[in-house]
Amino acid sequence: MLERTLAILKPDCVRKNLQGEVISRIQRGGFKILGMKQIRLTKEEAGAFYGVHKGRPFYEGLVEFMTSGPCVPIALEKENAVADYRTIIGATDPKDALAGTIRKLFADNKGENIVHGSDSPENGRIEVAFFFAESELV
Ligand code: RTP
Ligand code: MG
Repeated sequence: MLERTLAILKPDCVRKNLQGEVISRIQRGGFKILGMKQIRLTKEEAGAFYGVHKGRPFYEGLVEFMTSGPCVPIALEKENAVADYRTIIGATDPKDALAGTIRKLFADNKGENIVHGSDSPENGRIEVAFFFAESELV
């Protein structure tokens, strides 16, 4: 079954000029890019996007970080996209991520970890729709 998943190149990825490195790894993984844009999230948008984490100790810092500069949401499509994308990005904390994964290669710490990935096919569709109108997905 074709699935959609949302990647975000987080502000640390953009600051480090690693967009190309990360996108080339996504493309080599066989993902189709349906949509991509560079934006700067407002606090309201970042807070809503990560609303599931509201109340956790890292939530305020996460919103601060996600609004600290431009980021690049990317709508991806592939068979088994959600799980396969999470395999190539690696664990949330780069210390725990497998060798060769995007977070292991490029992330500084658990908070500033280069990329976002959806955690279920349902959330993949919801998160793609958070950033893209259906008419922007081609
Ligand atoms: P993401 O949603 O960004 O793809 O990351 P994830 O599923 O691997 O991890 P999740 O548990 O959903 O956490 C969302 C993001 O919050 C930040 N975080 N910081 N300092 C901490 O303990 C901590 N825990 C989470 C990270 O930026 C994480 O990716
Ligand atoms: Mg998550």
